[in-house]
Amino acid sequence: MIVYLNGGFTDHANAKVSVDDRGFLFADGIYEVIRAYGGRPFLADDHYARMRRGLEAIRLPSATADGIAAVADRLLEENGLAAADATIYIQVTRGAAPRRHSFPDPGTPPTVYIATRNTPRPAHDSFALGVAAITVPDIRWGRCDIKSVALLPNVLANQQAKEAGAFEAIFVKDGVLIEGSHSNLLGVIDGEIITFPECNYILGGITRRFVLDLAREIGIPVREGPLFADRFDDIDELFLSGTTTEVMPITRLDGRPVGDGRPGDLARRLQQAYLDAAGLTAAHG
Ligand code: PDD
Repeated sequence: MIVYLNGGFTDHANAKVSVDDRGFLFADGIYEVIRAYGGRPFLADDHYARMRRGLEAIRLPSATADGIAAVADRLLEENGLAAADATIYIQVTRGAAPRRHSFPDPGTPPTVYIATRNTPRPAHDSFALGVAAITVPDIRWGRCDIKSVALLPNVLANQQAKEAGAFEAIFVKDGVLIEGSHSNLLGVIDGEIITFPECNYILGGITRRFVLDLAREIGIPVREGPLFADRFDDIDELFLSGTTTEVMPITRLDGRPVGDGRPGDLARRLQQAYLDAAGLTAAHG
């Protein structure tokens, strides 16, 4: 597999990053994950725009993102993924420098890593039958809108979900179900989609925004507001959105059935709308 690292293309096995890299020492960097369907990057402009905002937020030049789209296209091509369902992974850190908390000397080049890999669409069973999720306390920082590589709380939450036989862990903040460890959360109460508003407490998902736009287009009311954990019995449907998750129904939360325990009507309509908009036919597998 060929990857891109700091200006050059190289075999994955030869791509090496310094032990002084601030991504390694401080998690001082951001990342982005972009979907490609049939080799074509999906919603790529939105991902690159979020990446530029992230770079600015951590005070790296947003021009670091220039040219990345062309690199991603070349990687898909060179790795034989020009017609594949794949993902593009991009990571930018503040570069390598002797360890100290404040920024390194001006002129220290950021580390830029880009890789592509074959990534099948969600398994047909979970897509059609739904998945289980658990809730966990949100122990993260106050800038979850930055797609930071500092993902330890997300890693711990996701592992907890895995050990519980669940697909995703939902962070609960002040009694509100806000988002998953690697996906956004949407719910339905009385025919209305409710999802936590874009702010510093969640990642503004590109898929979340796309799905909300689809919902409005097909006439489903949408409200950006809180889904209270202690009003679980009022919730008719829950589903996740994300770059690799697409629209994924949650049918059990902490072992309790969501609604009637089957994927909800609105989730299924949005899955179909997503497939149509992305020019896809059905789930993988
Ligand atoms: N995760 N919330 C969190 C915490 C996420 O990590 C992600 C994405 C999302 C969904 O965002 P988007 O629709 O832009 O993918 C929400 C990526 C895919 C990951 O970490 O692999």
